[in-house]
Amino acid sequence: MTKLLLRALAGETLPVPPIWMMRQAGRYLPEYRATRAQAGDFLSLCYTPDLAAEVTLQPIRRFGFDAAILFADILLVPQALGADLWFVTGEGPRLSTVTTPGDLARLRPADQIHDRLAPVYETVRILARELPPETALIGFAGAPWTVATYMIAGRGTPDQAPAHALKNADRATFSALIDRITEATILYLSAQIEAGAETVKLFDSWAGSLRGADFDDFALAPARRIINALKARHPDVPIIAFPREAGDRYAGFARATGADCVALDSSVSAEWAAWHVQTDGCVQGNLDPRHMVTGGPELTAEAQRITRAFRGGPHIFNLGHGITPDADPDNVAAMIEAVRTA
Ligand code: CP3
Repeated sequence: MTKLLLRALAGETLPVPPIWMMRQAGRYLPEYRATRAQAGDFLSLCYTPDLAAEVTLQPIRRFGFDAAILFADILLVPQALGADLWFVTGEGPRLSTVTTPGDLARLRPADQIHDRLAPVYETVRILARELPPETALIGFAGAPWTVATYMIAGRGTPDQAPAHALKNADRATFSALIDRITEATILYLSAQIEAGAETVKLFDSWAGSLRGADFDDFALAPARRIINALKARHPDVPIIAFPREAGDRYAGFARATGADCVALDSSVSAEWAAWHVQTDGCVQGNLDPRHMVTGGPELTAEAQRITRAFRGGPHIFNLGHGITPDADPDNVAAMIEAVRTA
């Protein structure tokens, strides 16, 4: 009996969709906060395989989700390429910046990332052993554009202005950075698959700030290159792409990149996406994560509306973005109940 998540990714229409949540291992869970305190800080948690595996398993034990997502971060790849990385409590990530040909020359070649990332592969191996047999294991990486926005600005930015500025002022350096991240991502995801990841997800959280030809060149093209390379090595491993806030560019994204599933944020309606995205294959999403804070009858109604809108094709139930630290775990249980009884 194949795992439900893998059946949906293979294109099967199921009576009840498989369910998991972005950031399901996170600060809204008291058991996560306890393990994170034990690790000391967020990066130590990412690089300590026993503890990273433990926080990955916590939401599976509590809620019985159909999939576990490896606990790590998209910014471990820049760090493995040689960027300095640290997290400022309450503010988010900080990195040494890459904005000149000299900065780029100081980064490591893509094939030298594995020493630094070996603990992540060990976390995947532990999870492949310890997950319940019905739970699928998802690996992931950031998409090149999103990772580049952090490497160029040295931090998260509301509008990705520094990355857009470099793209427009020094296209050669910008493109070379995108290429380096693309190559590293192929090797990183391949290693996760070899360690036991059953599917991988590419997070392009800032895809929505790319317009027109920029979307083609820096969201579509790198995703297509990564997916082609992974399919050549691991033809049976399905791939989920998340070009967040892509809007109408969600339509055709799976065909253009070869992704098996497109993850949707909450800005597109499930009714629209059923007609314009799900017609090409599996979709994932897209409940607004705010419902995990507010709960009540609106949560149930929205979760059931989305489940019904996607009922005619392959669907994985998820949020449109990560669950937030102020969410109530009881609302997660209510969401699962609503989806399974829709
Ligand atoms: O989804 C999961 O449960 C898997 C683990 C995961 C994390 N980050 C753990 C994390 C995944 C898939 C990510 C992806 C990620 N990381 C993205 C893309 C997805 C998205 O959310 O748009 C991005 C942009 C990052 C970079 C990043 N990591 C930021 C901007 C922050 C700080 C913001 C915040 O929420 O504090 C992080 C930290 C981070 N990554 C946390 C977790 C659980 C919180 C850290 C903590 O415990 O203090």
